[in-house]
Amino acid sequence: MKDMRLYVNIDHVATVRQARRTDEPDPVRAAFLAELGGADGITVHLREDRRHIQDRDVRLLMETVRTCVNLELAATSEILDLACEWKPMQATLVPEKRQEVTTEGGLDLSTAEGRAAIARAVERLRAAGIRTSLFIDPDDAAIRASADMGVDAVELHTGEYANTRGEERRGRLARLGQGASLARSLGVDVHAGHGLTYENVGPVAAIGEIEELNIGHSIVSRAVFTGLEAAVREMATLIRRARRAL
Ligand code: PXP
Repeated sequence: MKDMRLYVNIDHVATVRQARRTDEPDPVRAAFLAELGGADGITVHLREDRRHIQDRDVRLLMETVRTCVNLELAATSEILDLACEWKPMQATLVPEKRQEVTTEGGLDLSTAEGRAAIARAVERLRAAGIRTSLFIDPDDAAIRASADMGVDAVELHTGEYANTRGEERRGRLARLGQGASLARSLGVDVHAGHGLTYENVGPVAAIGEIEELNIGHSIVSRAVFTGLEAAVREMATLIRRARRAL
């Protein structure tokens, strides 16, 4: 059984800073504390509208992060240019809509046009030597389309699992497990994330094929009360415990 990596998404540290357009709290300091707490990587989403993370943050994180940077981005030429210049260890392509509060679902790979746009972005990132991941729903067709593009990994969207309860949640969890198996059988690494919390992370962490979780809001929320280092350590402990129980 492979260990599971915890990548901490620090976007919402920047959200608090941008609420006042000042210079604190600094996501660069947050990344340092997350690493001290045991984060295996730092994830940031540079949105086109720059609502939280700014170009300056990514530039500095590229110089200071000791683990690795996972840059989430939409497949637009401006952001792809920046990614190819900065060369983060990993880039995760995500859909982006101006009005959304947060990423609402996986990439739409159901049309030839949609697949071609993502395939072009994957090609550009790969040519720059960047490991590629696609944020998709745990849907067979999307997983197969991703594998066809030759991506290194898919990040399965856990939002539906997180937002449901009882029988419905069990169904969503089973779907994540089946999706993870399918991706692995096609030679694609499996990541997961969105909406994961201290309360619901256990069953997802117990899916053996998933190697990496991306978690942001819940950790940053807890950090307001406990500090970021402790909040990350607690999440890492929960993940390790769920993994050992397998
Ligand atoms: N994975 C992706 C692709 C995301 O867009 C986000 C949110 O930015 C996350 C994971 C983290 O989600 P959350 O903040 O709900 O933990």
